[in-house]
Amino acid sequence: MDIFVTIATKRKCIIERTLGLIVFFISSTTPGFSQKQTLINIETAHNAIVLQADTGNRLGVIYFGEKLKKAAEYQSIPAMTKRQADVDYSGIFHSAYTPAGSRNLVEPAIQVTHADGNTSLDLQYVSHSTKKIDDNVSLTTVLLKDPAYPFEVTLYYKVYQKEDVMEQWSVIRHKENGNVMLQKFASANLFFSANQYWLRQYHGDWAREMQPEETRLTPGIKVLDSKLGTRENLYQPPSFMVSFNSPATEDEGKVLLGSVEWSGNFRVDLEVDPLNDLRLIAGMNNFASEYSLKPSEEFTTPAFLYTYSVKGKGEASRNLHDWAREYRILNGKGSRETLLNNWESTYFDFNESILSELVKDAKKLGVDVFLLDDGWFGNKYPRNNDHAGLGDWQENKKKLPNGIGYLVKEAQKNAVKFGIWVEPEMVNPKSELYEKHPDWVIREPNRPEHLYRNQLVLDLSNPKVQDFLVSIFDTLFIKNPGLAFIKWDCNAVIYNAHSAYQQKQSHLYIDYVRGLYKVMERVRAKYPKVPMMLCSGGGGRVDYGALKYFTEFWVSDNTDPLERIFMQYEYSYFFPAIAHDNHVTDWGKQPLKFRTDVAMMGKLGFDIVVSKLNENDLKFCQQAVINYKSVSDEVWHGDLYRLMSPRENDFASLMYVNKDRSKAVMFNYLVNNRFGAGSTLPVKLKGLQADKKYSVKEINIYPGTKSTLEENAVFSGDYLMTIGFNPNVNVRRTSVILEINEVK
Ligand code: GLA
Repeated sequence: MDIFVTIATKRKCIIERTLGLIVFFISSTTPGFSQKQTLINIETAHNAIVLQADTGNRLGVIYFGEKLKKAAEYQSIPAMTKRQADVDYSGIFHSAYTPAGSRNLVEPAIQVTHADGNTSLDLQYVSHSTKKIDDNVSLTTVLLKDPAYPFEVTLYYKVYQKEDVMEQWSVIRHKENGNVMLQKFASANLFFSANQYWLRQYHGDWAREMQPEETRLTPGIKVLDSKLGTRENLYQPPSFMVSFNSPATEDEGKVLLGSVEWSGNFRVDLEVDPLNDLRLIAGMNNFASEYSLKPSEEFTTPAFLYTYSVKGKGEASRNLHDWAREYRILNGKGSRETLLNNWESTYFDFNESILSELVKDAKKLGVDVFLLDDGWFGNKYPRNNDHAGLGDWQENKKKLPNGIGYLVKEAQKNAVKFGIWVEPEMVNPKSELYEKHPDWVIREPNRPEHLYRNQLVLDLSNPKVQDFLVSIFDTLFIKNPGLAFIKWDCNAVIYNAHSAYQQKQSHLYIDYVRGLYKVMERVRAKYPKVPMMLCSGGGGRVDYGALKYFTEFWVSDNTDPLERIFMQYEYSYFFPAIAHDNHVTDWGKQPLKFRTDVAMMGKLGFDIVVSKLNENDLKFCQQAVINYKSVSDEVWHGDLYRLMSPRENDFASLMYVNKDRSKAVMFNYLVNNRFGAGSTLPVKLKGLQADKKYSVKEINIYPGTKSTLEENAVFSGDYLMTIGFNPNVNVRRTSVILEINEVK
């Protein structure tokens, strides 16, 4: 049923307003209201956000939803939808960027103390312009100014037409006689109107990333935030979704997928206001972060990223994936290399000859890269466990007498590439770095240190520390130009947030992340192509601020495949599979085939002792690497359709279809061991072309076993999508991968 009709009927007596999804407007009794005011219409291929200034020049969001066929009709929205002036007394609940301290009564987007100590702020529309960046991308800027102070904010709306994606951020500046203190500084202030709002948020901890929770938002404010300083998503990631009227399903419902592009403290306020509209304010967290802004200096917020779909979570996430591959993730449209990692097979206990053997194992397995993990550095304080050595990035002479260079050559001899682990932001108190530069460490001088994994965080707001970080990469690459992969880890949060460098301590959280980005920027300028994994003691830092510099991220240290099915499923709403690093390890009780099948739903890697595999296991893994190459193009670049949720069914089922609908791969995993659990009915496939014919073939079959499915059965796309196909998942066939090829 059309939302407009539903809501209008339900509330006719209370509030007269129209809803596309989202609309309303200021009552004609609101002072200053006029239809002739400036209208700013920002549209993607299917959606629009429309802003309008009233006669007092206050800019509000008057529409958010599916775009109208005739843009001229947005002008009519205010006339059709009258707002109750006696409830929104201030007339700015719908503000496009809510200033605190003047007429505002709800959560602000911005709050400041002027140079003269005054705490009031009003922002009025001055001008706007739209610049076409290319055929798909445009940027609208809107200038707002305070009539009483030389203080202004520019709102940015970057539109990615085809993908229905928007990025919003703001730039704050002033010309007052002294510094202005910024107390809140959101990236975006959105406004929606619907019957109900359903928030899907995530929480977690180490090895428990991306645990979802879906609840109805009630009047008042729900805040999603992080105050950890680094590895911001340890407890809560900056990604979430809001469904309108009822929780969206994969194919139905109005839903917004949003994410703050910031690798530090973030904050998202979701306020259901007194008129049951939803105000969404997102950006950096202002917690302990009052920022002093000099005259003429610019304060640029990170962007808030979102996509909106009226066709459910599936379409919204496919749009976001297209955007991420095209515009954000490094080499998002390229390929990825399979690898063998030594972390779980050796931990810190290795030497040159052990590693040389592992390099040979990588070759035996058929993977592209050998990745040397933690433990290769530190001499005065050798890194033989996680208590010492972080910060001293010189090869440990005992373990590696001939340095990394020897191993890189060993790898080359075996036609394998070589990658390495670093954790550049961190320091163990037991390190030469700590002894030499205690002032580079974030710590309270007058309080006992509190360690996280026996380590502390370096003060990246200090340019000297930034230089030091860049030098770690320079040394590695200058000595070993053949290095072909970097795993960048970040295992601690910030305690005792105090900087010996900062004059104003409240700048630390923000300047830390800005410093981090400066380092990443410099590293990328010098080494633009080398693949880099964003890791943070598992998936403790996964966001689109950092992914600009990375080709992939480590989903979680928890590689138990059963847990991974659930985590990968939730991550998949926000991040495409090409960026998910999945390793086959010894976590979990499932057979090797199940573990490998789960890891294939992303970028495949191994972290097992290859020499201990029995003959069949080894054969299976070798064949899996080959099979993976035959379907990786679909996994990396195809459209994802979630067919069966592991949370609602005995088994999970997902498929990736290439863009011309000629090839697909379908993954099926049993997640329940109760009697009779399995695929009792066919699963309806999605994303194929009805009039094409497809063969369906099971791949990744364990040596010595046979598929129970008919070999290369052929069906029409119509049949597969209407009737479906039963992968025959059951307790004897706990994971099943199907390759689906067009037959001409
Ligand atoms: C973190 C990472 C692991 C591994 C260890 C090494 O926990 O997530 O994959 O690299 O650090 O100390």
